[in-house]
Amino acid sequence: MLIKKRSGIEIPSSEITPEHIYASRRQFMKGATFVAAGSLLAACAPKGFNAAPQGAAPVSEDIDLTPGTVSTTTDELGDPINSYEDITTYNNYYEFSTDKDGPAKLSKNFPTSPWQVEVGGLVRNPGVYDIEDLRTKFDQEERIYRLRCVEAWSMVIPWMGFPLSKLLNEVEPTADAKFVRFETLYDPEVMPGQDSRWYDWPYVEGLRLDEAMNDLTLMATGLYGKDLLPQSGAPIRLVVPWKYGFKSIKSIVKIDLVEEMPTSLWMSAAPSEYGFYANVNPEVPHPRWSQASERRIGELGRRETLKFNGYEEQVAYLYDGMSLQANF
Ligand code: MTE
Repeated sequence: MLIKKRSGIEIPSSEITPEHIYASRRQFMKGATFVAAGSLLAACAPKGFNAAPQGAAPVSEDIDLTPGTVSTTTDELGDPINSYEDITTYNNYYEFSTDKDGPAKLSKNFPTSPWQVEVGGLVRNPGVYDIEDLRTKFDQEERIYRLRCVEAWSMVIPWMGFPLSKLLNEVEPTADAKFVRFETLYDPEVMPGQDSRWYDWPYVEGLRLDEAMNDLTLMATGLYGKDLLPQSGAPIRLVVPWKYGFKSIKSIVKIDLVEEMPTSLWMSAAPSEYGFYANVNPEVPHPRWSQASERRIGELGRRETLKFNGYEEQVAYLYDGMSLQANF
């Protein structure tokens, strides 16, 4: 069964337009303003923004199929989804390339089947899941989420997948389990970027258990109604829409429930720049650039960044009493 949701809001299936309709709609911004900064994620120096964030707008159920027009399918704030082309040709996937267009070019032959995900650690029912089992065992839902990269670009993406909580409930974390640790495949033969000694491979990310159990936290297997392409993290990735995009780890092979806070690849690469929490927050600047505004791919100008990427209502409770400045 396919369930369509925008962060909790049911939407009709008619709203999703086939990707070929969108492919020619939005001009991909060439000559992007990102500059690689040493070995780390690129800093996009904001030049001030001139666009206020769009407020909540009613969702149109009429889809304009005329090529060249802007999508009428939107997120719950009324922002149009990005084109399939934007989403699959402008990527961060350092295992393949540090260029935005590199992952699409270099991951074409990345084998994503067969694929297994090992789930273990502090759980009662550890297991090894075939990707096909994961696709059929849990209802695949469609979720339209904003993705906000720490580099200050963003997109709106119609994902397909299932809430991570469903998988975690199946393996039953024990009382000692406090965090979830995720690991990407390590195979330099097929992931040429893993030859780079700048990073501590494999890519690792983590969430607190209550963050992982939040309904927004998605294991994505597809987008635009199609299976994920390698550059998007095929065959399965995490999507945590209220956190900077680097938390949304791609091509996962291992999930462990652990007692201690995991150290992510970015925390070990630059601990003063990338923290464990990485919640989108316009009030907490990155040490090298402001996070107050962002550039939505496909738009001119900049827009204000929203606290928790616009998902404050759903997730703010997770951080009650915590300093978001100290826990960046
Ligand atoms: N996962 C792995 N394994 N390797 C990566 O380099 N990049 C992260 C995240 N997940 C990355 C990753 C970053 S920095 C971002 S912004 C998002 O993936 C980008 O996802 P997208 O390319 O699908 O837009």
